[in-house]
Amino acid sequence: VAELRTPLTELLGCRYPIVQTAMGWVADAKLVAATSNAGGFGFLAAATMSTDELRKAIADVRAATDARFGVNFHMFQPNAAEVIELVLENADRVRAVSYGRGPDAKTIGRFKQAGVLCMPTVGALKHAQKAVELGADIITIQGAEGGGHTGSVPTTLLLPQVLDAVKVPVVAAGGFHSGRGLAAALAFGASGIAMGTRFLMTAESPVPASTLERYVAVREPSQIRASTAVDGMPQRMIDNPFLLRLERGGLLRRLFVALSSAWQWRAHTGMSVMHMLRTFIAALREGDSAIQTMMAANAPVLIQRAMVEGRPDEGVLPSGQVAAVIDSLPRVAEVIESIATEALARLAALTPSPSPASGRGGLESAGPVTDESTP
Ligand SMILES: Cc1cc2nc3c(=O)[nH]c(=O)nc-3n(C[C@H](O)[C@H](O)[C@H](O)COP(=O)(O)O)c2cc1C
Repeated sequence: VAELRTPLTELLGCRYPIVQTAMGWVADAKLVAATSNAGGFGFLAAATMSTDELRKAIADVRAATDARFGVNFHMFQPNAAEVIELVLENADRVRAVSYGRGPDAKTIGRFKQAGVLCMPTVGALKHAQKAVELGADIITIQGAEGGGHTGSVPTTLLLPQVLDAVKVPVVAAGGFHSGRGLAAALAFGASGIAMGTRFLMTAESPVPASTLERYVAVREPSQIRASTAVDGMPQRMIDNPFLLRLERGGLLRRLFVALSSAWQWRAHTGMSVMHMLRTFIAALREGDSAIQTMMAANAPVLIQRAMVEGRPDEGVLPSGQVAAVIDSLPRVAEVIESIATEALARLAALTPSPSPASGRGGLESAGPVTDESTP
C-alpha cells in the first residue's frame, strides 16, 4: 500500500497526514477513536467539557483504540488547569494538545517534557509567529473559509505566509474535504491537512439527524458566513432564522440573549460567580467592551441547542464553507481512505511517467512534490 508519510505522520504516529480537529460537542470519544482507528489523528473537544466529562472521554478513547490522540482546550475555560493535569496524567496516550488562546511558555514546557506536542491553531501570520516563540511544535493554520471562530485570510494566502515564516511543520485547515485538497496542501509545503466540518458530517458524528440535515442541505458557500453576532468574534455558521434574528435584534436584544445564556452556561459548567467576574474584568483590561464579554457566554449555549439538542432553528450552526460541497454522511474510515487514495492519485499525476500521460491534469515538467509526500 502506498504511503503518505510526512513530518506530521512521524510526529503524531498516525498513518495518514489527516487530522480531525476539535469541535465543541462534536469531537467526542467515538469520533476521535474512529478517526485514529482509520489512520488519521483525532482531537477531543475538551473546551466544552467539564473535567469529569473529559476524564471519561479520555478513558473511552483509550479503550476504543490503541492509537494516540489529541486534546483541545482553551486557557479561558474555567477548568483549564484541571484539563492540563488530566492531559499530563495521560501523556502515554495523548500525543498532542491543540488550542487557540494557549497556555504560557512554562505550561508548554511541561507538555513538551511529558512528550505531548503543542499544536495551536492560528488564523493570522502574527499568531503563528507568536505561537512558535512560545514553543509550538506544529502549527495548524485555519483559513477564513474554515468553520467556527475564524480569521479573515483565505487558506491559500495564509498557508504560504506561515510556511515562509516558521520552521516547524505546518498543517493546513479551512475548506478541506478531498484528496485534491490534501495533494494541494502537500504541494504548498504543508505536512498535512486538518478538517472539522468534513468529520462533523459523518456517520459517527454525534450531531442529531435534524441538525445534520441542515449541513447536508446547504448548497451555497455564501450561506455559510462569518458573523460577530454570537459572541463578538467572527464565527462562521450556516445562515438560519435564529442568526438573522440575533443580528437584527439590536443591542438590547443581544444583551438579553447574552445575559440569559451566560446564566445557563454558568449552571452547566458550575462556573463560579467569581470566575465570571474575573473573566469580565480581564476582558475589560484587554479592551473588550462589557457587552462582548457577556456575549462570549452565548456561543456554548446557542451551539448546544443545535448540536446536542437537535433544534437547528433555535441555535447556531458553526460550519466551514466546505459544507456547501458535501452532500453525504459517510463513515469516517471511508472519508479518510478516499482522501488518501485520491491524494496519491493526484500526486502521481504530477510526477512525469515514462510513457506520455493521457487525459487531463499533470504537469509533465514537474518533479516529485516532496520527498515525504510521494508514494
Ligand atoms: C461545529 C464546530 C465546532 C468547533 N469547535 C471548536 C472548538 O471547540 N475548538 C477549536 O479550537 N476549534 C473549533 N472549531 C474549528 C475546527 O476545529 C476547525 O479548525 C475548522 O472546522 C476547520 O475548518 P473546516 O470546517 O473547513 O474543516 C469548530 C468548528 C466547527 C465547525
